[in-house]
Amino acid sequence: MKTQVAIIGSGPSGLLLSQLLNRVGIETVILERSSRDHVLSRIRAGILEWGTVELLREAGCGARMEVEGFTHDGTILTDSDNMVHIDFKALTGKQVMVYGQTEVTQDLFKAQDAMGTTIIHGVEDVQIHDLDTTAPRVDYTVNGERKSLSCLYVAGCDGFHGVSRKTIPEEKRREFERVYPFGWLGILARTAPIDDELIYANSEHGFALASMRNANLVRHYIQVPLSDKPEDWSDERFWAEFGRRLPASAAAKIVQAPSIEKSIAPLRSFVSEPLRWGRLFLVGDAAHIVPPTGAKGLNLAASDVFYLYHALFEALKNGSEKAVDNYSERALNRIWKAMRFSWQMTTMLHRFDGEDVFAAQMRAATLKHLAESETARRDLAENYVGLPY
Ligand code: FAD
Ligand code: DHB
Repeated sequence: MKTQVAIIGSGPSGLLLSQLLNRVGIETVILERSSRDHVLSRIRAGILEWGTVELLREAGCGARMEVEGFTHDGTILTDSDNMVHIDFKALTGKQVMVYGQTEVTQDLFKAQDAMGTTIIHGVEDVQIHDLDTTAPRVDYTVNGERKSLSCLYVAGCDGFHGVSRKTIPEEKRREFERVYPFGWLGILARTAPIDDELIYANSEHGFALASMRNANLVRHYIQVPLSDKPEDWSDERFWAEFGRRLPASAAAKIVQAPSIEKSIAPLRSFVSEPLRWGRLFLVGDAAHIVPPTGAKGLNLAASDVFYLYHALFEALKNGSEKAVDNYSERALNRIWKAMRFSWQMTTMLHRFDGEDVFAAQMRAATLKHLAESETARRDLAENYVGLPY
């Protein structure tokens, strides 16, 4: 088989890149390890920056989001009972969109099916060859048969555990990492959100986030030790702990419901440089991971896609490799700023085991400063709604 751009992975990065390229007449084939049902069953991000919203519209995938998504003008940060409202719209003129990653992925699959794109599920043992030539090749096994895909470029959109990053020789990669000593336990439940906006809560018992998917579906998280398992947390235990971490006025509004999903995600900051190796480009989680505080994971994947889409357009439609040469540097420039923001939000809002009393005072002082300084709130808002591409 032959195509112009071979895309490894059908998460949001791979699907969005493929959809944008197909719309301007560039051919792609997507190779995905899992089944479509599995890809669509993963509950992950929930907040889209406006740049992501616009990119989805440009990809022709905005229609359902316009109807079913919720625009939020701001968010609330708390320290015990102190609540600080960050008014994104007043401070930056921008909003964010509440629309789950599962919905985004579903819309992209539908659009790709309508486009007739070849998406091969269940591929195993993907190997990428000849990246230093103008004719790279991706070998893979499907239904027990070894196959080969010839292409002009390869987009590695295969997440943190994928094969693409590891294809770059170890001595040519530089990795930066911070692992946090806790995870997020998340539940999905059919009940009303606590507030019109998300609440990022810092308390003496640890962090909690009250989020939502729609008027009758909530996504809530609490910080838990890495050694905990979802089975350790009955619904009763979750709701009690969640309520303890919110300000009393917000906790009073909790309407409990059985969880329909419960999982624990570890928190990590990670960047692998460079994002380009010959004709291979790393996109999204294949190249970087942020802790979820600040909702940057999916949005960073979208900005990588934006840069790579424009670079491949220039190369394949206009014969100029300049943007392809600049892809890694351009994308990393934005990635590091989102890394900083996610790290800062994580440090500001979580309790670290064994910390001293000084750390809690620093968190409280940061929240007080945000409450009193419009400049501080604008800085947070500017990063949360997403820095320009
Ligand atoms: P992925 O979504 O990981 O997609 C990669 C795809 O590649 C997958 O479908 C995978 O099956 C496929 N693949 C992997 N290896 C191979 C291979 N060798 N061959 C072929 N295919 C392969 N972000 C937030 O902003 N908020 C959140 O609350 C949040 N929660 C998260 C919870 C979890 C458990 C995880 C893992 C991530 C979470 N994220 C969150 C991050 C966000 O979901 C990711 O940033 C986003 O999914 C990145 O998209 P991607 O397409 O780059 O990678
Ligand atoms: C959600 C996840 C986040 O990491 C975040 O910062 C905000 C919302 C969510 O899943 O709804």
